Amino acid sequence: MKDRRKRDINYLRISVTDLCNLRCQYCMPEEGVVKKRHEDLLTLEEIYQVVEACVALGIHKIRITGGEPLIRKGIIGLIERISQIEAIQDLAMTTNGILLKKYAKDLKKAGLNRVNISLDSLDEEKYRRITRGGNLKEVLQGIEAAKEEGLFPIKLNVVLIDELNSDEILDFAMWTMEEPIEIRFIELMPIGQAASWAKNNFVSNEFVKMKLKELIPLEPEDRSSPARYYKLPGAKGKIGLINPISSHFCMYCNRIRMTADGKLKPCLHSNQEIDIKQILRTEGTPSSIENVIKEAILLKPMQHTLNERDHEPIIRDMIQIGG
Ligand code: 5AD
Ligand code: SF4
Repeated sequence: MKDRRKRDINYLRISVTDLCNLRCQYCMPEEGVVKKRHEDLLTLEEIYQVVEACVALGIHKIRITGGEPLIRKGIIGLIERISQIEAIQDLAMTTNGILLKKYAKDLKKAGLNRVNISLDSLDEEKYRRITRGGNLKEVLQGIEAAKEEGLFPIKLNVVLIDELNSDEILDFAMWTMEEPIEIRFIELMPIGQAASWAKNNFVSNEFVKMKLKELIPLEPEDRSSPARYYKLPGAKGKIGLINPISSHFCMYCNRIRMTADGKLKPCLHSNQEIDIKQILRTEGTPSSIENVIKEAILLKPMQHTLNERDHEPIIRDMIQIGG
């Protein structure tokens, strides 16, 4: 379905939990987040109903996010059901990779196409610091498992944080020389409680370009991707630069989001939310669900106003939005 800006909205990102087995500094406060009551979260059946309604409105690309989606009970079954919907052309997941070693095979079997893995350092000690306790080895094993199962293309999300990992750009980039992997450097966004910390630790894409002078720009394959792609000469893989804040991307934006507690978010950079849980639990007919989704799509802002002085800060932590 088209929004007011005539953008074709065909991509739904679903956060299936706002809990995580890590505690990344930019994503949630140190003490963690208050666990929602069970009844506040959408059930897997409700999520599936929303997916069906979205598909009826022309959505054909789905990403499962979190928190960490692999800690949600029954997630494999949900993926299996979604993958059986014929109109779905792309079914992907964003995960921190810790549990991929355990689940990669089941995910593949259930019909997941591919994974994006968040990995911000290749140094065990730094990884532990950024994630407040995570074990790098587990992620690396998870990436291997994803490769073995053919969950391609594998994309690694690297959020750059000044004084923590901005000295690792070259190490990450070298990974693309030998492997057909995509390394995506993401600019740190000031979101939720870590907003002011994020502003102080910001590293721009220009810094990456300065460190990797040989980058060759590639033709964009997908205009709706927030990444601009490059490669190193002779490399098997690609390097993506993501500036979540630049508005070049807004005019091609094709997505809406749904939080684990059943709110539709037309734009990542706005606090605007539309309650879909309530309709699911009252009227609950396919057409009533579709109407709420239509409403959310029509409320999609033309573009974000992040660069304007009166922009209101984003309240939810990233852990509740799922990137
Ligand atoms: N800025 C940029 N990227 C972020 N992510 C989470 N929080 C932020 C932030 N404040 C990234 C994660 C993950 C993706 C879903 O979003 O690293 O890869
Ligand atoms: Fe968990 Fe991802 Fe947030 Fe890190 S960024 S705490 S891995 S949800």
